[in-house]
Amino acid sequence: TIGNSSNILWHKCSVEKSDREELLNQKGCVIWITGLSGSGKSTMACALSRSLHARGKLAYILDGDNCRHGLNSDLSFEAEDRAENIRRTGEVAKLFADAGIICIASLISPFRKERDTCRALLPEGDFIEVYMDVPLQVCESRDPKGLYKLARAGKIKGFTGIDDPYEPPLNAEIVLRQTEGTCDSPNDLAEKIVSYLERKGYLN
Ligand code: PPS
Repeated sequence: TIGNSSNILWHKCSVEKSDREELLNQKGCVIWITGLSGSGKSTMACALSRSLHARGKLAYILDGDNCRHGLNSDLSFEAEDRAENIRRTGEVAKLFADAGIICIASLISPFRKERDTCRALLPEGDFIEVYMDVPLQVCESRDPKGLYKLARAGKIKGFTGIDDPYEPPLNAEIVLRQTEGTCDSPNDLAEKIVSYLERKGYLN
């Protein structure tokens, strides 16, 4: 049985993931980018998408902010809704990967448990967790949307890193560490992921 009903059966089609991958000359997977607001997730996701596109590889970004305008527009930033936000995005990412696409999911996704649940949706190796390891202090000094300022002033409640938790990954496949002193560009960071994908055979 599937889901909550015993009357729903899985329908299998003779065109499979491997057929689509052959067509696209790549392997479908999920690159899950997690990190604090202002850690550079979206900018790096975009650089990665551009780099893959230039190599003739099909990638698609699921951005937390953007999905909250549509698919997840009914969800708040309460713990339960964040969990649902991550669950839905994980399920959609799984469909993209099954389509043979390199799906780049870029969400704060602050909870380890929910990220691990998304990982478990995919075949071993196909969920690639990327941790944007940037100190809160650096994210706050960037404050690209002015949200940290509002959070510090108490005008946004439950802001990740300020008065809401962020659980860093314990075993991320890729850690992109940046401190005040480092100056890796988003393109440099994206190339680390491209090299990983190349090494693991996702690009051919
Ligand atoms: S989550 O935690 O994964 O559900 O968040 P996500 O869907 O990635 O959305 C994060 C963006 O929403 C803005 N925002 C907040 N972030 C954190 N906490 C609170 N309370 C909050 N309220 C609004 C913020 O701009 C996040 O964007 P990024 O791109 O991460 O800076």
